Amino acid sequence: MAKRKPIISGNWKMHNNHFEAIQLVQKLGYEITVDDVEHVEVTVHPPFTDLRSIQTVIDADRIPIGLGAQHCHFEEKGAFTGEVAPSMLAKLDVEYVIVGHSERREVFGETDDDVNKKVKAVIKAGMTPILCCGETLDEREAGQAEAKVEAQVKAGLAGVKKDDVAAMVVAYEPIWAIGTGKTATADDAQAMCAVVRATVSEVAGAEAADAVRIQYGGSVKPGNAPELMSQPDIDGALVGGASLEAESFARIVNFRLADAAS
Ligand code: 13P
Repeated sequence: MAKRKPIISGNWKMHNNHFEAIQLVQKLGYEITVDDVEHVEVTVHPPFTDLRSIQTVIDADRIPIGLGAQHCHFEEKGAFTGEVAPSMLAKLDVEYVIVGHSERREVFGETDDDVNKKVKAVIKAGMTPILCCGETLDEREAGQAEAKVEAQVKAGLAGVKKDDVAAMVVAYEPIWAIGTGKTATADDAQAMCAVVRATVSEVAGAEAADAVRIQYGGSVKPGNAPELMSQPDIDGALVGGASLEAESFARIVNFRLADAAS
């Protein structure tokens, strides 16, 4: 883990209008210091309607947090009612885009092919994709977790240049652990993140696998973050619920400072 800078990302999902978003980011500005981000990169991923407001606050108050989006389309423009193009996000100083979150796949029918096109479109627009993968409970119980994740990672990275893969983030989020309060054990999370890294090595080579950052997501909280983050193949966290509250998100960001009691 030491060679890869950890990255902790807050996925706000469909929470916080732009007034609430400004308040939350301002609170994060008090909680997360320039010194903290020497050790850990921090991003927040608000709804589209908040991006411009937050961009302005981050810039004006010099808050050391990167701006992210939750989704985008793969086309640059056209008759795609309701969609947002990658270049529109890049213009708002968005640095990271979550691609293929399980909620996008399950609720909105995104396919592996869509996800692959989006990964490429995000890179083309000069941003970094956070490619999500993860198995359902049924798949885990049927012993198919590894195969599912391998297939998603291979499909998501198909045709992506090795150097671009190396700069990416992959988030392993077991679907059964999202919003349920059930976290994968640190050992299970590590084992699956090792599968992700091995798969990246297969498709993009050992150097890219060594450089790519892998997040764990699914009920990450201040109490379980230190153990998860101590695993050799876990380089960060993609945090849902606990990112909606400044104090809990800042405690996760500062996982390295937690004592055993937390
Ligand atoms: P929770 O942290 O609420 O389980 O959400 C995880 C997630 O889906 C982040 O993308």
